[in-house]
Amino acid sequence: MLKPAGFFLWLLALLLLGCQPPSGEQSYVVGGDADVGQELVTDYGCGACHDIPGIPGANATVGPPLDEWAERGYIAGALPNRPGNLVVWLMNPQAIEPGTAMPDLLISEQEALDISAYLYSLR
Ligand code: HEC
Repeated sequence: MLKPAGFFLWLLALLLLGCQPPSGEQSYVVGGDADVGQELVTDYGCGACHDIPGIPGANATVGPPLDEWAERGYIAGALPNRPGNLVVWLMNPQAIEPGTAMPDLLISEQEALDISAYLYSLR
């Protein structure tokens, strides 16, 4: 039988294994679909302000370029660049950076997850 300490080590190992991002092109945004996100980025017109790889015509310089997004340290200089924070930023830029030139685009949580999955595929 497992002793309690052994059980917790086993649980820890399981958690650590479960937290490793999948390799390859797959996204590590849980619940987000990068292909859908790519279409949403086009539909919302993010390319009117951003330079975004993989989006035809998205080469504007109003906002920062979103290339190699997965390597970025901070979101708008305010939030550590993690999937949960990106969802929050996409849904409420004006609440996080009052007066920023990025408008609130009324993006739903699911849409924000899909867009995040796409942006984190840029590396
Ligand atoms: C009207 C212009 C405009 C539109 C449209 C726009 N953004 Fe932005 N975005 C900005 C600006 C300006 C910033 C910089 C904000 C700041 O640092 O305060 C920004 C910041 C960001 C950031 C953080 C970038 C960084 O380097 O920290 C992300 C990610 C982002 N936008 C994604 C999007 C996505 C996805 C869309 C479409 C759903 C979008 N934006 C639409 C202007 C825009």
